[in-house]
Amino acid sequence: MSMQTEFLIWDEQATDQLSKYIRSGEVVAFPTETVYGLGADATNPEAVKKIFLAKGRPSDNPLIVHVASIEQIESYVTEISPAARRLIQAFMPGPLTVVLPSNGKISDQVTAGLDTVGVRIPDHPAAQELIQKANVPIAAPSANLSGKPSPTSAIHVFQDLNGKIKAILDGGTTGVGLESTVVDCTGEKPEIIRPGGVTQMEIEEVLGYPVELATEDASEVQPKSPGMKYTHYQPDVPLILIDGDQEFFQAQIDEYRSNGEKVGVLASEELATILNADLIHICGTVENLSTVAGQLYQSLRVFKKTEVDIILTEVFPTEGIGQAIMNRLNKAANQIIKQEK
Ligand code: TXA
Ligand code: MG
Repeated sequence: MSMQTEFLIWDEQATDQLSKYIRSGEVVAFPTETVYGLGADATNPEAVKKIFLAKGRPSDNPLIVHVASIEQIESYVTEISPAARRLIQAFMPGPLTVVLPSNGKISDQVTAGLDTVGVRIPDHPAAQELIQKANVPIAAPSANLSGKPSPTSAIHVFQDLNGKIKAILDGGTTGVGLESTVVDCTGEKPEIIRPGGVTQMEIEEVLGYPVELATEDASEVQPKSPGMKYTHYQPDVPLILIDGDQEFFQAQIDEYRSNGEKVGVLASEELATILNADLIHICGTVENLSTVAGQLYQSLRVFKKTEVDIILTEVFPTEGIGQAIMNRLNKAANQIIKQEK
């Protein structure tokens, strides 16, 4: 299916236009504070089907529902536990998604037939404007082709989905750069099922007790978050994680190069500036890991088959937002090479 994709710079008129498209059952891309979303009316099953079609996304992977207020969340769930309420109050609007028991008003296309629903209130004025004007909950996954790095600018959306969706709203580069943290609040204790923009420590501080990070086992028949079992965030060329010191890293680069391969390196400025390779791309500083989070996905899109054969990437500390960074890199990686201690 091919159509003309409109490209609109964010202003009042643009969100007016996009909200009409949403209401008439079309699919549009819009910025959030995490990554760009690919949105459709969550109450319209035919519209939601178009999201899966455009992305090439497996239909058993549920979508997050984007709303503008806590009252709206209440209208789609049977219950909000006290812990869920504390998280909502502390982090919404913001990069947090809570999974709650669905009251059935959100269609099975969105929830993939589960009896739960993931909801969030994005902290981006363009997204909020769009939700308010459309006056319906908006189901939206990240606006990338399934398996590719998530889009942090409108250009990434254009590269992946031009000709497949009605419109793209360009609101500049997203701030957080990684997706929302998904917390399952349907059990006795909240559990993090996808690390993201809100850190485990921030969540524990609000709740006053430790929370578990769901283990991700690709072989599990029913993973907690269905999205876990698919390949994700794949760049154009294979990506290898190098878990070792600077000399070890350089030795790996030299080894690939001696086999005639062109080596790209994706690393912090601390490491990148002391390595030699064919193409070096800096993605922030380890001093402030949110800079790495902000640049990670666009960095994965930098390396092209025509320029390098392989990307070697640094292992970042897993404190704070580093947990989400390494979660994404481990999924993007084809292999990890570890230095013997
Ligand atoms: O930051 C974000 O969350 C972005 C922006 C666009 O809002 N959206 C996003 O959506 O990352 P997506 O579809 O790429 O990822 C949604 C994740 C998937 O891992 C999915 O399995 C999980 O949330 N999820 C959604 N609803 C769920 C539910 N009812 N139960 C368990 N997991 C759910
Ligand atoms: Mg995604």
